[in-house]
Amino acid sequence: MKQIQDTISFIQDLYKTKEFIPLHAPKFEGNEKKYLLETIDSTFVSSVGAYVDQFEEMMKVISKTKKAVAVVNGTAGIQVALRLVGVKQGDEVITQALTFVATANAIVYNGSSPIFLDVDIDTMGLSPKSVADFLEEFGDLHEDGCYNKKTGKKISACLPMHTFGFPVHLDDLKIICDAWKIPIVEDSAESLGSEYKNKPTGSIGEIGVFSFNGNKIVTCGGGGVIVTNNENLGIKGKYLTTTAKVPHAYEFYHDELGYNFRMPNLNAALACAQLEQLNLFLANKRTIALGYKSFFDSASIRFRTETADTKANYWLMCVELECLKDRDLFLSETNAAKVMTRPIWQLLYRLPMYWNCQRDEQLNAQFLEERIVNIPSSVR
Ligand SMILES: Cc1ncc(COP(=O)(O)O)c(C=O)c1O
Repeated sequence: MKQIQDTISFIQDLYKTKEFIPLHAPKFEGNEKKYLLETIDSTFVSSVGAYVDQFEEMMKVISKTKKAVAVVNGTAGIQVALRLVGVKQGDEVITQALTFVATANAIVYNGSSPIFLDVDIDTMGLSPKSVADFLEEFGDLHEDGCYNKKTGKKISACLPMHTFGFPVHLDDLKIICDAWKIPIVEDSAESLGSEYKNKPTGSIGEIGVFSFNGNKIVTCGGGGVIVTNNENLGIKGKYLTTTAKVPHAYEFYHDELGYNFRMPNLNAALACAQLEQLNLFLANKRTIALGYKSFFDSASIRFRTETADTKANYWLMCVELECLKDRDLFLSETNAAKVMTRPIWQLLYRLPMYWNCQRDEQLNAQFLEERIVNIPSSVR
């Protein structure tokens, strides 16, 4: 197909190579080596150290929140965030099936189960309408929160995910969740630097969680952060992720079951150096996105752009093909030409451990599952 061949040539020109082009490669051109060497020289390579503190301060500023807790990865961050907003064993959490598996896994690690609701076509994230429709049918509002009429279980959180850095319709979602007394935890793993109505994603729900995994816009090898404007939740988050140790000069006393989810200082050093370059990365990606947009405007392949009132970080850029057959052809031809492309995730209710979860029809999620493909998006 000529259009696919033209796309391959465009991407090869963009990245100035005919060799393998990955989906997303990290870039280390700032203070990464300097900070890492400083950390090694200081001997503070583990879970306490100046870079952990500095990283948390930087993340408060970037996410415009009052508290930031550095954690070992995004999945652990979501697990703890859900526990912080009150998710308990046997509860249920509303989320989307069109997401990376970690979103749902973090729900199950708390002994709770996901309810998979549909996404919006424009944002590819949890649809406020699907949440409203579901709660109209199954919600049962009590003094202490919302219960599911079908299962009798408490729906104790809503976990939307900002797919590839495109923010979900947070205002609408918040109105619905507030009315049903359901706290929102934003899975912002992919959306560092994205904004919804001039507010950073992650700062609008009760808690937000970012990932710093190797493939993210900013990486520290592996890492995550919990951010919140609720100071008490932030303090409790630090305590829970630090083995629930009661502060004392020398005694070891832990008054509940905590976790060792602390980010090591080595990773925090890398994270600080990378965060210093976040604005550069964002600008660079925006330029790439503009280039892709004007290239794809003349093709029948649609390049996905941010919705009104939002600013996407363009972490992983993507195109929408006409149908599954076109998608598969696009995937096979681009990958054969060493231009890495990947389909969006398979919907989570198709995975064995999530077969029996309650869900709605998922018409939009299925539409996107058959058509969306990620294309190379590394900072140049
Ligand atoms: C949507 C989503 N949620 C959660 C995670 C988990 O983050 P981590 O890999 O840091 O555990 C990721 C990415 O890896 C993700 O893409």
